[in-house]
Amino acid sequence: MGFDQYHEPPEELSAQTRTFARICASLEEESQAIGWYQQRISVEADPDARAIMEDAQGEEFKHFAMNLEFLLRRTPRWRAICEGVLFKDGDIVEHGEAAEAASEDGGGGGEDEAGGEDDASLGIGGMRGAGQ
Ligand SMILES: [Fe+2]
Repeated sequence: MGFDQYHEPPEELSAQTRTFARICASLEEESQAIGWYQQRISVEADPDARAIMEDAQGEEFKHFAMNLEFLLRRTPRWRAICEGVLFKDGDIVEHGEAAEAASEDGGGGGEDEAGGEDDASLGIGGMRGAGQ
């Protein structure tokens, strides 16, 4: 991927924002790998080969989850919206619209978009995950 995860001059970005962008790039790559494995598994006739691919896809699920959790700990509004959408039955779009609206009303627990400079917020995000 090189340095193309940055859309602004890297030297103008904080260390936190560069890290945030790197993890976003990793999240994208893990998602892409999950989709590639899904395609390979769907066409593979050899059960032994398919088992290896399924095991590898499981690793990518884990990598995706870890990257996402890292980002959500540092982005309270994103976390709040995910909490309103993920692991819920019912209409996904309705949950998404409601969670976004709630976050606009200040229900997001603060703003620290894209790994900004708010170190206090970073600490809150870290503590949230540590206690679970
Ligand atoms: Fe991976």
